[in-house]
Amino acid sequence: MTETSTETPFYPMPRAAACPFAPAPQVREIAAAGPISKVRTWEDKVAWLVTGYEELRALFPDPNVHLDNKHPNFPYISPAMKALAELSPRTMFNTDGAEHARFRRMLAKPFTPKRLELLRPLVQKAVDERIDEMLAAGDSVDLVRALGLPVPSLVICELLGVPYEDHEYFQRSTEIGFDSNTSLEEAQQITIEMLGYLNKLLESKLENPGEDMISDMAELVRAGELQSWEAALQAVGFLAAGHETTANMIGLSVLALLERPEQLALLRDIDDPKLLSSALDELVRYMSITHTGLRRVAAADIEIAGETIREGDGIIFDIGAANWNPETFPDPETIDVTRPNAAQHLAFGAGRHNCIGLQLARLELGITLQTLFRRVPTLRLATTIDQISFKEDAMVYGITTLPVEW
Ligand code: HEM
Repeated sequence: MTETSTETPFYPMPRAAACPFAPAPQVREIAAAGPISKVRTWEDKVAWLVTGYEELRALFPDPNVHLDNKHPNFPYISPAMKALAELSPRTMFNTDGAEHARFRRMLAKPFTPKRLELLRPLVQKAVDERIDEMLAAGDSVDLVRALGLPVPSLVICELLGVPYEDHEYFQRSTEIGFDSNTSLEEAQQITIEMLGYLNKLLESKLENPGEDMISDMAELVRAGELQSWEAALQAVGFLAAGHETTANMIGLSVLALLERPEQLALLRDIDDPKLLSSALDELVRYMSITHTGLRRVAAADIEIAGETIREGDGIIFDIGAANWNPETFPDPETIDVTRPNAAQHLAFGAGRHNCIGLQLARLELGITLQTLFRRVPTLRLATTIDQISFKEDAMVYGITTLPVEW
């Protein structure tokens, strides 16, 4: 699919300042008109945009829908992502089929429900200590810096075996890496630096292994099952995806719930783990933070919704549009933490590439929100929502600062 036309809308489309939590209005209009359409990317190439809920459910697991970012028609998010894809080896982030399953099997162990339950006390301690510090320091704080970013960063450091003292470095690098305005040169430099940093850690874990994922990967490198370059790149991916996503969800959720005190109270008081999980899913559905589209390429002709996606066509999944589909989620613009089918959202993806960290994200989000609202009942915004700066240009949506007081 090579034709371009000025009438083909450019993607991604901006969210509206007046409705900062809602998917872009233009995407919602496109979704209302039909489940699949065509858009233009920054390379002036045409790709299919899938916004329909049922169509995404069908295409996510389709074996002919590939995440092959080395394919010439892959619809890259930005010039920097294109250059990085050309540089990077094969990992779980850009393979499919047996190759992807092999990578995923190697790395899935720490994310089993049993292993994650063991992390619960660590997450609770991290949250309690950050809130103790917050309360001891005064009566106002930037909640992103004080709680939202430190909690998932501490947890992913523990899981991977990365020293938390380096958090300023990797948080900043991730933020720059996820910004679509970052230049190609800057993105390359940051990735090479992060790869060097994690490679050094891998080498040190070969000498002195610990109970962590980088030590496990070092062992796989020693056994010849993984190249050190592949291991380092996967560690970069886990480090970045493991803190920036959940941190953004914490910031956005606190902001949205402070504006909706009845929903805040409902969520704060949930004791049943199943109901809590569903309430958190509602927040994840509502925010749909991976808002610049999940990218794919067709490995064969695919018939869907009366259209033929041809082999080699680029495909973009807009999960926000599907998560706000009024037929699947009635009254989608309302946060309803008791929504019965919230767990059916697509904000963690679906199929073989679905989020490996989704249970961890729920664990961190649940403990952080409930503990914060229980321990600081007078928490309120120290500004107005129109003063908050949203990460419109980032691959993962969020807020940079959240001034609160109590
Ligand atoms: C609320 C927080 C999170 C959200 C909304 C989120 C969202 C997503 C989405 C949408 C995907 C699918 C990407 C695609 O299909 O192209 C994904 C994959 C992934 N996520 Fe998350 N994520 C979150 C938290 C985490 C955490 C905490 C970790 C790690 C500890 C993590 C690690 C990963 C990895 C490694 C993948 C790639 C899986 C694969 O390709 O097989 N994520 N995530």
